[in-house]
Amino acid sequence: MVQAWYMDASADDPRRPHRAEPARPVGLEQLRRLGVLYWKLDADKYENDPELEKIRKERNYSWMDIVTISREKLPDYEEKIKMFYTEHLHLDEEIRYVLDGSGYFDVRDAEDRWIRIAMEKGDMITLPAGIYHRFTLDKQNYVKAMRLFVGEPVWTAHNRPADHVEARGQYLTFLAQRA
Ligand SMILES: [Fe+2]
Repeated sequence: MVQAWYMDASADDPRRPHRAEPARPVGLEQLRRLGVLYWKLDADKYENDPELEKIRKERNYSWMDIVTISREKLPDYEEKIKMFYTEHLHLDEEIRYVLDGSGYFDVRDAEDRWIRIAMEKGDMITLPAGIYHRFTLDKQNYVKAMRLFVGEPVWTAHNRPADHVEARGQYLTFLAQRA
C-alpha cells in the first residue's frame, strides 16, 4: 500500500523523506478527499494488464507514453528536476504509473500543508486538475514511469500563484463540497 505522510519544514535536499516529527501518516481515504486517486498494479505486466486496461477505459486515459527520469536518460536533467519540484498545477489530471524506480509526489492538503506520497514500482496515481503539487526523485535518482492522459496531452505547468485559472476554482469548489 502506498506510503504518505505530512512533511517537515526543512528546506534541505528534497530527495530525503522529510517526514514530520512526530510522524503524521496519511491514508488513502484522506488522499481521496483531496481528489487524489491511487491504484496498486503489477508493473511487470504493464504491457498486457487487464486491470490497467480497465482503469484506462473507465477514466478515458486514451494516451500514454513511458519516460525515464535519470541523469543519464533525461536531456536537460538538472533543469527538468528543478521544474518538476517547483510548485505548480495543471488544467488536467496528472496521471503517473511507476514501472521501475521511485520518487515523491508532494501535494497540498486543504489547509495548504504538504503531504508527501512515496511512489514505487506498481504505484499508479491521479492528481486532480487544479491541485498544487510538485515531484522529486528520491535517493535512488531514478524512476521509469508511464504517463497517461485523457486525449492529446498538454504538459503545461502553471506555477504558483495560479489561483486565477478556472481549474483552480473548480478544484477549490470540489474541496469545499467534501469538507
Ligand atoms: Fe505536475
